[in-house]
Amino acid sequence: MSDRLLSSESSTFDEQFELSLRPQKLSQYIGQQTVKDNLKIFIEAAKLREESLDHVLLYGPPGLGKTTLAVVIANEMGVNVKMTSGPAIERPGDLAAILSSLEPGDVLFIDEIHRLPRAIEEVLYPAMEDFCLDIVIGKGPEARSVRLDLPPFTLVGATTRVGALSAPLRDRFGVHLRLEYYDETSLAHIVVRSGHLFNVEIDEQAAYEMARRSRGTPRIANRLLKRVRDYAQVLGDGRITLDLANQALGLLQVDPRGLDHIDHKLMVALIERFTGGPVGLDTISASIGEERITIEEVYEPYLLQIGFVQRTPRGRVATYLAYEHFGYAYPEQN
Ligand SMILES: Nc1ncnc2c1ncn2[C@@H]1O[C@H](COP(=O)(O)OP(=O)(O)OP(=O)(O)O)[C@@H](O)[C@H]1O
Ligand SMILES: [Mg+2]
Repeated sequence: MSDRLLSSESSTFDEQFELSLRPQKLSQYIGQQTVKDNLKIFIEAAKLREESLDHVLLYGPPGLGKTTLAVVIANEMGVNVKMTSGPAIERPGDLAAILSSLEPGDVLFIDEIHRLPRAIEEVLYPAMEDFCLDIVIGKGPEARSVRLDLPPFTLVGATTRVGALSAPLRDRFGVHLRLEYYDETSLAHIVVRSGHLFNVEIDEQAAYEMARRSRGTPRIANRLLKRVRDYAQVLGDGRITLDLANQALGLLQVDPRGLDHIDHKLMVALIERFTGGPVGLDTISASIGEERITIEEVYEPYLLQIGFVQRTPRGRVATYLAYEHFGYAYPEQN
């Protein structure tokens, strides 16, 4: 799944080069203006008071820059960042070990925080509220609880599923920041910036073309750039012109709206075989041979977001926009 060129999820292949592309400072972090404006003030205020920054919850779809922002926050505060993830913390002792290794003001980043086991959450509450840890030493009648003081720290939690977070945990974050899909201009800037870091020349129009096909997601923009750069080296002189970008993206089967052959298969089935719907997800799933859950969680969100598909109580419906994009006449009765 993660091998899909247009997947917004990270793959091991991405991790290798994403590190080198990560902005380090707020000024290098492109787009997300509201988030940046807010953060700037909170960071400035915390510095003026010489306190640690409030705990920050970052949420939004994969690949929009949550992990990147956590590192940027630590850099702006001038502190270290320790990174872990919800599923990696299995026992209260794991969390206690991480927390007691923090220096005053440090950032603790917990990715996929919605997957933190409940028992660990309980340990986290006093740590977040009062910077202390209650640990139980010993077992049975011998057991006693010891309170350990922690240095003040900032917890930065990231999640793609904020609804899956328990209310008590969510409420303990002072700052909630929602990352949005990026607009074309921001994505084009990201492509140009990454181009500089890759040492590849990109024409502005080519950057915009790649931006338009990136599904609002920097991770996808960087991945497309990496592939297009290969074509530029082999088919051209290394420079990414609009012509070359169009040719490469065509060969990569990424269409002008950032849809690939699986999106096409799904939409064409919906339009041709089911006359635009409404049709149930299970029927679509059987018809194109993709699992229901994969359609729902991987393919459909973007199609819904760009308004090609609508969810109705009676099933999925292809919209006018979809008919237009795929070159079908829109049925009159609709
Ligand atoms: N605002 C931005 N400006 C420039 N580049 C960005 C920005 N946001 C993200 N990127 C790029 O996109 C890549 C993916 O971002 P990141 O790993 O932070 O996403 P994420 O939201 O943590 O994803 P996931 O939900 O999968 O953990 C980064 O390597 C970075 O190069
Ligand atoms: Mg991440």
